[in-house]
Amino acid sequence: MRKVDVFDTTLRDGEQSAGVNLHRHEKLEIALQLERYGVDVMEAGFPASSQGDFQSVQDIARRVKSCSVAGLARASRGDIDAAWEALREGTEPRLHIFLATSPIHMEYKLRMTPDAVVAAAEDSVRYAAAKFPYVEWSAEDATRSDWDFLVRIVTAAIHAGASVINLPDTVGYTTPEEYAALFQYLREHVPNAHKAKFSAHCHDDLGLAVSNTLAAIAVGVDQIEGTINGIGERAGNAALEEVLTALAIRKDVYQVETSIQLEQTALTSKLVSKLTGLIVPPNKAVVGNNAFAHESGIHQDGVLKHTLTYEIIRPEMVGYGSNRMVLGKHSGRHAFREKCIELGIHFDEETFLALFKAFKELTDHKKEVTDDDILALYLESGGGQQERGYELEFLHVTYTENRTTTAIGASAPSGRVIREVATGAGTVESIYNTVERIVEEKMELQDYRIQSTTGGQDSLAEVYVKVALGGGVGSGRGVDNDVLAASAKAFLDAVNRIQWKRQLGEAALAATAEG
Ligand code: KIV
Ligand code: ZN
Repeated sequence: MRKVDVFDTTLRDGEQSAGVNLHRHEKLEIALQLERYGVDVMEAGFPASSQGDFQSVQDIARRVKSCSVAGLARASRGDIDAAWEALREGTEPRLHIFLATSPIHMEYKLRMTPDAVVAAAEDSVRYAAAKFPYVEWSAEDATRSDWDFLVRIVTAAIHAGASVINLPDTVGYTTPEEYAALFQYLREHVPNAHKAKFSAHCHDDLGLAVSNTLAAIAVGVDQIEGTINGIGERAGNAALEEVLTALAIRKDVYQVETSIQLEQTALTSKLVSKLTGLIVPPNKAVVGNNAFAHESGIHQDGVLKHTLTYEIIRPEMVGYGSNRMVLGKHSGRHAFREKCIELGIHFDEETFLALFKAFKELTDHKKEVTDDDILALYLESGGGQQERGYELEFLHVTYTENRTTTAIGASAPSGRVIREVATGAGTVESIYNTVERIVEEKMELQDYRIQSTTGGQDSLAEVYVKVALGGGVGSGRGVDNDVLAASAKAFLDAVNRIQWKRQLGEAALAATAEG
């Protein structure tokens, strides 16, 4: 079987999703999970774009050991130098340089002639290859570029030292047949094509990103790029978990293998959703809440008689528990440990004990604890990576005739517990007004969403909010078995994220002033 490399760009292209604002420790948490997922390359960010991105790429390059960490750069020596500084301590530093090649981008965005674009590509790749062991070169907007111009510039990039050539469908415009033909054309016409790997990178504007990626695999590309849950600019990127599950289920068609630990899929998807605040639609393939739910009587009857009647993916294969073992009040440590292992949860003894305690607390409120509940508890525990922010200590809500009063106790970043009381026309408003008093800043609520982690009246509630605070906008998430407590946690989480970002900006300003 041919091996296809998996290049994950959740932390770079995925982080470009509207409203996503990941903190440094959260990026590291996702990176460590991607490493466990088994990706070959992870693109950790764009080091020259900001001080924050530089630092998180550096953190990730220092910590991740079993895959290559890449950073993005424009075709400029400044960008390449910044990426080298961020990545040099990594196990296998990799640079990803991009330069647009379509007539519309060259004329209107770059304002460069095609000859100048070829020269810039060659110069930047040669400069980068003198530092980095691996250089990937991307022809931005490749699918709207002239094919013979691509032949010329790709030949030059390989000659200058590029080891991977990526042909991105930047605006999600291509079709499976056309994308496959483009790779075949370049393989046939680029004289030094055998010296580089070819990579597919698709966006989902026409809903074709996964199909286009699979079409590229069918004609022999060596690497595929995408993001977890398909997050990314506009309609997003190819959803890696969908491509990878399709490759596993239809091995007979694609005949390739990857290094992915597919059973880590559910956990990876939930972690990315939790930290980005981007909810996975229930009907989403592979990782949606309904992906394995059978509603109609005929389907349920069929599945009970034989799962293969209506189920082509075994849930365990992508990390959902087999549900043979339902946990509850009387479940002990041993059963709980087995369940965690089955769900692909990675833990040391300290994390396990904290998780077991949280599980026991949950069984006081919930009769049957489902796999999704356990995954939510695990993700809430945060693996001990969290930086200190506001944390909810207690919440009291009292209803009177047409006024609701809320009292909140929250520990501040300093460790001090702050207690405040406020009223509001409804519960959410009074919680929100109380949080405003705690953080001593005016907030503007822009979005509020609620969903349950599992079905049933005792399900855990997940609340997502988006708030504006002191010129910054941030999203926050809270999980609890009570909707109101989940709301208070979500508000505090959003405040923490905005304040962390502010501190980063201040640190960058201070560094610039010193420099
Ligand atoms: O979609 C795209 O063109 C990109 C480039 C930066 C490779 O993400
Ligand atoms: Zn992209």
